Amino acid sequence: MNTPVVLITGALSGIGRATAIAYAKEGVRIVVSGRREEAGNALAAELQAMGAQAEFVRADVRFEADVQNLVAKTVARFGRLDIAINNAGTEGRLGPITEQSVEDYENTFASNVLGTLLAVKHEVQVMQTQGSGSIVNLSSIAGKVGIAGASVYVASEHAIEGITKSAALEGAAIGIRVNAVAPGPVATDMLDRFVDSNEEAKARFLDSMPAKRAAEVDEIVQTILFIAGNKARYLTGQSIAVDGGYTAQ
Ligand SMILES: NC(=O)c1ccc[n+]([C@@H]2O[C@H](COP(=O)([O-])OP(=O)(O)OC[C@H]3O[C@@H](n4cnc5c(N)ncnc54)[C@H](O)[C@@H]3O)[C@@H](O)[C@H]2O)c1
Repeated sequence: MNTPVVLITGALSGIGRATAIAYAKEGVRIVVSGRREEAGNALAAELQAMGAQAEFVRADVRFEADVQNLVAKTVARFGRLDIAINNAGTEGRLGPITEQSVEDYENTFASNVLGTLLAVKHEVQVMQTQGSGSIVNLSSIAGKVGIAGASVYVASEHAIEGITKSAALEGAAIGIRVNAVAPGPVATDMLDRFVDSNEEAKARFLDSMPAKRAAEVDEIVQTILFIAGNKARYLTGQSIAVDGGYTAQ
């Protein structure tokens, strides 16, 4: 069997970047994507130096032309698309609901909801002609429970859960799986932004978690790889919380 072709959005930092490196170690063919050309080319070179066939394609997932081009370039380069990790996302501007603006809503929903919808749309178009494919969307515990001070982000992550379930139902009979991974706090830049880089607030937040710590990035990456891969071939339409027990409460 040919080595799988993997596409990752928002791959230039945090979970996306670590996922790309983990896949490169598995020897897959890989397209990494993000908005920053220079950082993207540097990541592709790093993956190539690890022995992977890798390419960077610039894409801002808010724009359909970018997403369409990303998927088309993946197929042009490698001939197919087996696994897509829709990881691009933002926490947006946080704060109480009384302070949220239409602009905050539009910004957060454009990257998280429209971005995921467009990615799934164009990925499925390729996967349905192949009769196979696996998609993992990055959701959050904010896709499962409310969080005071994060209403717009929470709404956007709940929407990703809905897209995941509906796309899974559309793909189930034609060999396409669609799942989500829903992390709790993960030790990335996003977590620092979430607590406004306030170490005391971060410590308080993490102390409220059953596991009393954030996830290491690799703890999220390993779940993504398992769900995306063939060992999980009967798993679809699910969102797996990787949250040290938070949503079990
Ligand atoms: N870090 C956490 O605590 C945490 C918790 C739950 C869920 N998540 C989710 O995990 C995913 C990855 O986050 P992370 O922790 O690695 O943070 P991160 O900020 O390092 O990564 C997000 C990446 O997405 C990119 N991105 C944002 N909007 C984009 C757009 N419109 N087009 C293309 N790229 C875009 C960013 O530039 C960044 O590189 C996100 O979807 C996030 O919602 C993170």
